[in-house]
Amino acid sequence: MTLEDFKLRTPEQYKEAQQQAIKNPDLFWAEIANTFEWKTPFEKALQYNWNDTPSTEWFAGGKLNITENCLDRHVATQPDKLALIWEPNEPHDTPVKLTYKELLEAVCTFANGLKNQGVSKGDRVCIYLPMVPELTIAVLACARIGAIHSVVFAGFSASALAARIQDSGCSILITADGAFRGNKTVPLKDIADDALKTCESVRKSIVLQRTFEPISWNNKLDVWWHDFVDGLSSSCTPEIMDAEDVLFILYTSGSTGKPKGMVHTCGGYMVYTAYSFMNVFQYEQDDVYWCTADIGWITGHSYMVYGPLAVGATSVHFEGVPSYPKWNRFWEICEKHKVNQFYTAPTAIRALAKHPSSHVTNHDLSALKVLGSVGEPINEEAWNWYDTHVGKNQVPIVDTWWQTETGGILISSLAGVTPQKPTYATLPLPGIQAALVDDKGNPLTDKEAEGILTINFPWPSIARTIWGDHKRYQEVYFSAFPGRYFPGDGALRDADGNYRITGRVDDVVIVSGHNLGTAPIENSINEHPEVVESAVVGYPHDIKGNALMAYVILYNTTDDSERLIKEIREQISNTIGPIAKPDRVLIVSGLPKTRSGKIMRRILRKLASNEMDQLGDISTLLNPEIVEEIKKELS
Ligand code: PRX
Repeated sequence: MTLEDFKLRTPEQYKEAQQQAIKNPDLFWAEIANTFEWKTPFEKALQYNWNDTPSTEWFAGGKLNITENCLDRHVATQPDKLALIWEPNEPHDTPVKLTYKELLEAVCTFANGLKNQGVSKGDRVCIYLPMVPELTIAVLACARIGAIHSVVFAGFSASALAARIQDSGCSILITADGAFRGNKTVPLKDIADDALKTCESVRKSIVLQRTFEPISWNNKLDVWWHDFVDGLSSSCTPEIMDAEDVLFILYTSGSTGKPKGMVHTCGGYMVYTAYSFMNVFQYEQDDVYWCTADIGWITGHSYMVYGPLAVGATSVHFEGVPSYPKWNRFWEICEKHKVNQFYTAPTAIRALAKHPSSHVTNHDLSALKVLGSVGEPINEEAWNWYDTHVGKNQVPIVDTWWQTETGGILISSLAGVTPQKPTYATLPLPGIQAALVDDKGNPLTDKEAEGILTINFPWPSIARTIWGDHKRYQEVYFSAFPGRYFPGDGALRDADGNYRITGRVDDVVIVSGHNLGTAPIENSINEHPEVVESAVVGYPHDIKGNALMAYVILYNTTDDSERLIKEIREQISNTIGPIAKPDRVLIVSGLPKTRSGKIMRRILRKLASNEMDQLGDISTLLNPEIVEEIKKELS
């Protein structure tokens, strides 16, 4: 049997698969997993305990290397098939095209360099690179030798990078002189140098030459990528890994505390990303698939690198931004590479929709067969624009709900196979036991219901732990509703069982598709010497989905609030990254609090959202007068 035999092509096949997966999950996933190449077969598909200390193991004892499955396996049958079409920032620069054979050789060469550096199985390697082919190469080279990659999005600041390097104790950093993003360049090496001042674990920094801008150089630490790989062999025996060995760590924001290093393992992650990629996007062997994400996020890991490569797909990777040099860039690329599946985020769709539709209609998009959305709820207006202008009302849209923690898509329609419904992610994928509960954990068993989303049974690509902090993993994901996985999202369900995600139920705000915990932003603001206390909340924004508003209390009043607000925004940019800068900063004399001293964020959210008539009863607050004051400030 091949993976292709598990492709679901009709609604009946979907239903049948879902029933089988629930009835006998072991058998269901074992059969799919057995279509991959294992060095030693696994004996039992699943072992888990979600009650005490949560643990989940898939295919444990089975031995494999994920890069053999993603590369060598395809090189054996179709070496000249394109794995990667890389579209550079500048539209007139030539795309880089890598066949499976070329990609394997590049991966092996770089893997040999890492080995020469003494990197071995289990070592952590931090990758802080722009969206260039070398990013994919570096990721896979780590996997080749069993090193654990930790990719940090190249928009993060030096201190955010340092925190991630320190948390996982990376010994190697892979970075570049700089990154091109539209008409800007980002000085990645400078940022990395800054970060490394506090990262003693790093003993080598491999630097890719991309922008050719002058950089500072430390002979002991730094080595150019091209020197690093010079003269190395392009073959490298893959490290044999247990299915449950760690493949990578990827950090995601929590509502409190430092970012959580989500740990994904080799076997289950491979099986689930491949299966879900093939079925959600209905990928056919000659298709060209393009996901516009950055590999620094989970979407890039699962649906730009591992999932597509595991099924032998051809993917477009794009270095730039949708607005450069003009707002037609996405559609120009779709036309140029005859893209069949296009996968992007609602925030990009909303930004594109603000510009004349001629940017879209001037391009031949007739190759498109599937449109995808990910990262946040897609509002009806954006969905309709996508459907009408890009899909010409002919192309199925998959709204894919999932998380860094889930590793793969859990709720989505299967393109053109199961029904789609605007603003609904629709149905759980086979093997995903989604449910709704009320805030006390009581199951909501009516067909139509609204509540908190939980997943009641393991799937192969669930993150196994938080790096170095299993207790936090248990607390965040398994303590709210014991025995169930709690993703932190609210949802409603229609009579047909379709799920619509209504948004976060914790203090994470999704801004332009990026998860941002409000507590770390508040901590950053509070570090400003003039600030006593702050509260950050999200409010609706017509392009970003949500924007942030910071309420800030000062020690002393200031005549120069403009300066202060600028400093606060810069401070956030430096400690977390530009993506976390609040749109609005309001200096206030107090924050609405309960009598026990808890900040009433619900009220602050309503105020920021201009829902002044929905504040509810404020008379029980410790300081109701402050609400009136803030209202006045905002009016
Ligand atoms: O709130 C949900 C939202 O994004 C969160 C996960 O963010 P992250 O780990 O960064 O992963 C994003 C890419 C998978 C979820 O808890 N989210 C993601 N996809 C959707 C979504 N909300 C609604 N609809 C979606 N399709």
